[in-house]
Amino acid sequence: MDSSDLKDCTETPDLDFKWLKQAANGDAALLDKYIVRRQKGEPVAKIIGQKGFWKLDLKVSKDTLDPRPDSETIIEAVLKNFPDKNAPIRILDLGTGSGCLLLALLDEYKSATGIGMDASAAALRIAEQNVKRYAPKRAKLICRSWNEDSWWNDLGGFDVVVCNPPYIPTDEIENLDIDVKNYDPLDALDGGSDGLEEYRTLSNSIGQVLKQHGLIFFEIGQGQEKDVTVIMKKKKFTLFDSYYDLGHILRVLAFKIENV
Ligand SMILES: C[S@@+](CC[C@H](N)C(=O)[O-])C[C@H]1O[C@@H](n2cnc3c(N)ncnc32)[C@H](O)[C@@H]1O
Repeated sequence: MDSSDLKDCTETPDLDFKWLKQAANGDAALLDKYIVRRQKGEPVAKIIGQKGFWKLDLKVSKDTLDPRPDSETIIEAVLKNFPDKNAPIRILDLGTGSGCLLLALLDEYKSATGIGMDASAAALRIAEQNVKRYAPKRAKLICRSWNEDSWWNDLGGFDVVVCNPPYIPTDEIENLDIDVKNYDPLDALDGGSDGLEEYRTLSNSIGQVLKQHGLIFFEIGQGQEKDVTVIMKKKKFTLFDSYYDLGHILRVLAFKIENV
């Protein structure tokens, strides 16, 4: 088998083949198995168990959302607003998954510390491996849901809160590409009937973990900016700035506490 066997299932057959071949490490039978999996729609990252994000090479699995290039917009937005890379800022990543956002930020801010929280213990087992590689002394992981009462109680205050919550409306999940709907965890995708459920939930409590002059960076789905801004405004957060991804889609909203 070679890259031509992938041309019907991906727009990047040569690149996909290169990654799979490298991961198979000379084992031709294993490479064939990888190619068959790719032909069935499984993403390369899930097959080889790793994905590049920002400047990092992260472990991923069926239990973690594959980190997306669009989510790097959050990293750019934080860098723009916190230009002092030596500052000992505290960072909270809500719904950390593979740990990609937290670890990319800790890689930029070498004096920073942070917490990655997720309700999925399975995702955190992968994140733990990434933490060990990239920030073993500065990142802590907590298995907890933001639906729990007082989930914030023992976390303290943060300068930067980043969150890429599930934001796909439930009915739209069926229409997503196979590589997403069949291979990313449902709990990482499903944002309730209108896709906004997790923003509503978080808006009630996220202020508890934000320092007075801190910023919240939310990733949003296409076209959700007005609704998310209204949801946050009701809880006394002001839209501070917004950021586009490489596809020119408004992808990240930054909020601050009103009247700061
Ligand atoms: C869209 S994924 C984002 C993963 C990662 N931060 C990224 O950007 O690639 C959403 C994450 O939120 C987690 N999650 C969903 N509901 C949650 C909840 N109620 N409390 C904590 N984490 C939750 C999921 O397990 C998943 O890892």
